[in-house]
Amino acid sequence: MIEAPPPAVAPVQKTSATRRKLMIAVRGLTKAIEAQKILRGVDLDVATGETLVIIGRSGGGKSVLLKHLVGLMQPDDGEIWIEGENILGLSERKLADIRRKVGILFQSGALFDSMTVEENIAFPLHEAGERDTEAIRKRVDEMLEVVELEGQHDKMPVNLSGGMKKRVGLARSIVRRPSVVLYDEPTAGLDPVVSDSINRLIRRLQERFHVTSVVVTHDMKSAFHIADHIAYLHEGQIYFYGTSVELQQSTDPLLQDFLLGRSECGV
Ligand SMILES: Nc1ncnc2c1ncn2[C@@H]1O[C@H](COP(=O)(O)OP(=O)(O)OP(=O)(O)O)[C@@H](O)[C@H]1O
Ligand SMILES: [Mg+2]
Repeated sequence: MIEAPPPAVAPVQKTSATRRKLMIAVRGLTKAIEAQKILRGVDLDVATGETLVIIGRSGGGKSVLLKHLVGLMQPDDGEIWIEGENILGLSERKLADIRRKVGILFQSGALFDSMTVEENIAFPLHEAGERDTEAIRKRVDEMLEVVELEGQHDKMPVNLSGGMKKRVGLARSIVRRPSVVLYDEPTAGLDPVVSDSINRLIRRLQERFHVTSVVVTHDMKSAFHIADHIAYLHEGQIYFYGTSVELQQSTDPLLQDFLLGRSECGV
């Protein structure tokens, strides 16, 4: 049932359509929640090793879209292909494999408040059945180094700053070495210096571990800094897809309004 290859051509890409090895292909994704149509036919490609940034109005369905990519939400219709495998309709066991491949940094950070930094980061390893405490400790150390929080093992989340929490959340989402990391607003609420360090971290993961990244953000400075491609989600569909330069050069009024922060009613 899941063995059919993904569609060979991407009808969606309005610009930059080149043949690329796809890590993620989304086709015709629709989702309604309580009679509200959130996603209305999303088509989207993410090439292996690239960073795709998703932008769009608040409440437009960006977080909902990310949750579909890890099987945390089921669509009403459409297809989601991860490395050539359609993840819809997979058994829980097979979905667990997908979740190992795809890490997610939630918008809220979602650390366990009663656990130390070390326990938070080690949690996915325990959950996966890893019992070798030495190996777990080594991996946690490595992750703390990646996110530049060496020696912070024993801190409790309540004693961390917002930026540190984000970085611990990030360490937890990459501890099982996923090939894809989904970031939901990784720099929201952070000062420009901390935001910059998170952006450099996203870039470093791409370079060091060849991670494919999908980043949802409102922070256009970050978007332009990290994106290989940018997709603008509007009224449940990908309204624009292209490079940072293509977005900045676009004369489309809707995109210009969004980039300049103008509301539709012009006030
Ligand atoms: N679990 C849920 N139950 C009910 N409604 C939901 C649920 N999750 C999302 N929604 C609704 O779906 C819509 C899209 O929400 P989503 O969180 O994806 O927006 P978003 O684009 O991520 O917004 P923001 O930029 O503010 O984070 C909203 O109207 C939201 O209320
Ligand atoms: Mg959101």
